[in-house]
Amino acid sequence: MRHGEILLITLIGLSVAMLGPGCARTRSSSGQWASLSPDQLSPTQRAQWERAVAARDDLFGQLMTRLQAAIEQQGTASAISVCQQEAPKIARAVGEARGLSIGRTSWKLRNPKNLPPAWATALVEARTEGPSALAHPDGRLGALLPIRLKEQCLTCHGAAEAIPAEVRTALKARYPDDQATGFAEGDLRGWFWVEVPPG
Ligand code: HEC
Repeated sequence: MRHGEILLITLIGLSVAMLGPGCARTRSSSGQWASLSPDQLSPTQRAQWERAVAARDDLFGQLMTRLQAAIEQQGTASAISVCQQEAPKIARAVGEARGLSIGRTSWKLRNPKNLPPAWATALVEARTEGPSALAHPDGRLGALLPIRLKEQCLTCHGAAEAIPAEVRTALKARYPDDQATGFAEGDLRGWFWVEVPPG
């Protein structure tokens, strides 16, 4: 090894030793989501929270309207393919129209693509019952809003014996790793997650 290389390596080593821990600490404190209780929200955050709730109401309304129409027109088993094709598109369209990101998630997923965003993972794993708000130092607000199972969801998410045979077959064909059955009315089924950009 030449002298110059040794000097360079020593210099790199020194700067890592000097900057390393300090940098790591700064990075984590400036880049982490923090939970907020509802009474801690600033006026800007409250406005972001209201945008999140309005987006949730919009998405929920559109999904329910589409689901009911598909069930009436084509029957429950066929409504599954409508759900698979349209649910993600409807969520994207609501997000684009409102300038935010929105989706649905659960710890028991039917579609493995419905994973939570990184900021919501711990809350999803803990099966948080209530609505949660999180703030990022860059001004983004995350909202996690619980979804409870209603009676009309049982045909597709209830106990195996509550799901008609043709629905079970259609689910198996489209979602071979389906975990989203076995729920009872009133159970926590999952959450809407909404990420609102800085206000
Ligand atoms: C016709 C059958 C059907 C009915 C009825 C139904 N769902 Fe679903 N549900 C599905 C399908 C199919 C998916 C997967 C959609 C996808 O591919 O993104 C799904 C996905 C979900 C998800 C997203 C998380 C995941 O597991 O992928 C939630 C949350 C959910 N349903 C809640 C409900 C609730 C609450 C009701 C009642 C209001 C309901 N569903 C009624 C078929 C149904």
